[in-house]
Amino acid sequence: MDRFIEGLPKVELHMHLEGSLEPELMFRLAERNGVTLPYPDIETLRQAYDFHNLQSFLDLYYQGAQVLLTEQDFYDLAWAYLERCAEDNVRHTEIFFDPQTHTSRGVPFKTVIQGISRALKDGEQKLKISSYLILCVLRHLSEAEAIKTLEEALAYKEHFIGVGLDSSEVGNPPANFAGFFDLARQQGLKLVAHAGEEGPADYIWQALDLLQVSRIDHGVNCTEDPKLVQRLADSRVPLTVCPLSNLKLKVVDEMEQHNLLKLLHSGLCVTVNSDDPAYFGGYMTQNFKAIAEALNPDCEEIRQLSLNAVEASFLPDSAKRELVQEILRYQG
Ligand code: HPA
Ligand code: ZN
Repeated sequence: MDRFIEGLPKVELHMHLEGSLEPELMFRLAERNGVTLPYPDIETLRQAYDFHNLQSFLDLYYQGAQVLLTEQDFYDLAWAYLERCAEDNVRHTEIFFDPQTHTSRGVPFKTVIQGISRALKDGEQKLKISSYLILCVLRHLSEAEAIKTLEEALAYKEHFIGVGLDSSEVGNPPANFAGFFDLARQQGLKLVAHAGEEGPADYIWQALDLLQVSRIDHGVNCTEDPKLVQRLADSRVPLTVCPLSNLKLKVVDEMEQHNLLKLLHSGLCVTVNSDDPAYFGGYMTQNFKAIAEALNPDCEEIRQLSLNAVEASFLPDSAKRELVQEILRYQG
């Protein structure tokens, strides 16, 4: 099974670029930029990655991002992630980034997007990995701030395909961002939102009906509501599930309790993703292996998860068809 997973062609749809900042690169950039980190060394930093919920992770995630200052920093971050993608046979990836985390520190939006975009272009040419960017706004900030961010970003519209909603979920319902999503929709952007990670099934309904998203990020709390599970199965609105993230942030106590396979069997378009791989213990292959070990799927179920990700992606139909063929031909 491990060999089958390693070679399987993959598509990733839920990965926060700032969450791919490995401690080694964090220390290197801190030194390069004269930023002081509140940890004496890499080992001590890694030991701090012991989370009890989403917020305890987000506090470190925002702190870590402070070493990112120059265009080259964003290039190096994105390039390092793409090299991991190549190792894991990820053929296509749709990457989240959080501009507000950087513009609030005085880093211009242009610096962020140009650094990332240059790496993605090199990734297409040198690694043959296709990629899209999804601009996420932080739900612990106001809708007005989200709209301001989008308005600034529209000058660079050719660089991103859609918008998303992330950060602290509970107490910050999707409904608060309906106006922002209306604006993004009017701009022809794709729409996704984090919902049902720590928040209730009702937040997933809000993301579907009020924000009209075409994917739900996480969504694992949908099982609280059988009508919602039916709606997701009937509509095939995908869930971008992140197994190692769910374990590290205590969304599940044990991987054996994860509902990913149950949702797959109920006909939902579930996919496997890494979320914040530098913080949660692994990239795509590791997430597949963790699920395989805990839930004992067969190879065809693993293949289906990869086919679902192609279906759930924002790729044009011609590129989807090619990837589907490649995944179906794959023998392991
Ligand atoms: N949930 C919400 N916000 C995030 C996450 C997540 O898993 N990762 C990075 N920002
Ligand atoms: Zn996420």
